[in-house]
Amino acid sequence: MWFHIRLLENCNLRCSSCYAQNRDKKQMISFADFKDILKTIKQIQETDHKMSVIYLSGGEPLLHPRFLDFLEYCFSQFDRVSILTNGTLVKRFIDDLTPYRQKLCVQVSLDGDAETNDAIRGKGVYNKAVEALHLLEENILRHWISYTVSLTNKHCYKHIINIGKETNSLFNNVTPYIGDPDLMLDYYEWKEFKYNYEKYTRSVDLEFAHGPNCCGFNYNCGAFSGGVTVNPDGSLAGCARINDVKGHYRDMAKFLLPKSRPITEMCMKDKWQSVSYFNTIQYLE
Ligand SMILES: C[S@@+](CC[C@H](N)C(=O)[O-])C[C@H]1O[C@@H](n2cnc3c(N)ncnc32)[C@H](O)[C@@H]1O
Ligand code: SF4
Repeated sequence: MWFHIRLLENCNLRCSSCYAQNRDKKQMISFADFKDILKTIKQIQETDHKMSVIYLSGGEPLLHPRFLDFLEYCFSQFDRVSILTNGTLVKRFIDDLTPYRQKLCVQVSLDGDAETNDAIRGKGVYNKAVEALHLLEENILRHWISYTVSLTNKHCYKHIINIGKETNSLFNNVTPYIGDPDLMLDYYEWKEFKYNYEKYTRSVDLEFAHGPNCCGFNYNCGAFSGGVTVNPDGSLAGCARINDVKGHYRDMAKFLLPKSRPITEMCMKDKWQSVSYFNTIQYLE
């Protein structure tokens, strides 16, 4: 299971697509709460005997004043930890990250070519994110790209695949943008995008087209079954993108579901409402 821990709301960017734009930016997890969250996760792991992956996210996780303490503590408890970052601060932290290279993975967000990415994520962010991917590669730190697809940037798939190949990314985490319905892909646009994306991946001989958990590729939502999100205020959600808050992280075990649900019943339910359940169910079995 993945445990997506949002360490803080604050960020040094203001991406137009971000689900966390309007929250209280001062909110952040304390070290005492972080330890307690990991304790709760460990208890679940001991009961379920499932492998746990910890995602340290935000806001921008590298901005948390105790980020390195969190990372060190995390590795004292778990073997698999990933940082989800916008990439802008990776250069500053690279020497702190390299000692963890055996176990750590770093996800860097990249939403298109320079012009498209920076229109969404801010001026100059593309260069910093690509520089971060190269630095991670040079320092032998495992990494991948997160590409959040909307009508604004769906045309950039070849660019993302090329950068992924050039920087030796493990795969690309390609997921649909959730938010403004006018910018979300409808089902047929998504099918076409997916077809083109996979075709181009094969043509450049890339081994892993996309990550195993890409919800838009397997039409499967892992919220509360594959994983959960802990928000900076301690509330518990399934997926951060829809912020489907159910309670407090301490009650995590109580909200876990035995089975995943189709994406058409979750974040895509309004946008893909014309699509029958049976069109997508085949991917779940
Ligand atoms: C919220 S960010 C936090 C980590 C870091 N600040 C970053 O940008 O990578 C985590 C991931 O969620 C994605 N994301 C943000 N808002 C989204 C939305 N409305 N729909 C889908 N994905 C979104 C981002 O593109 C990013 O890859
Ligand atoms: S960098 Fe991440 S957290 Fe910050 S605004 Fe962009 S998507 Fe949101």
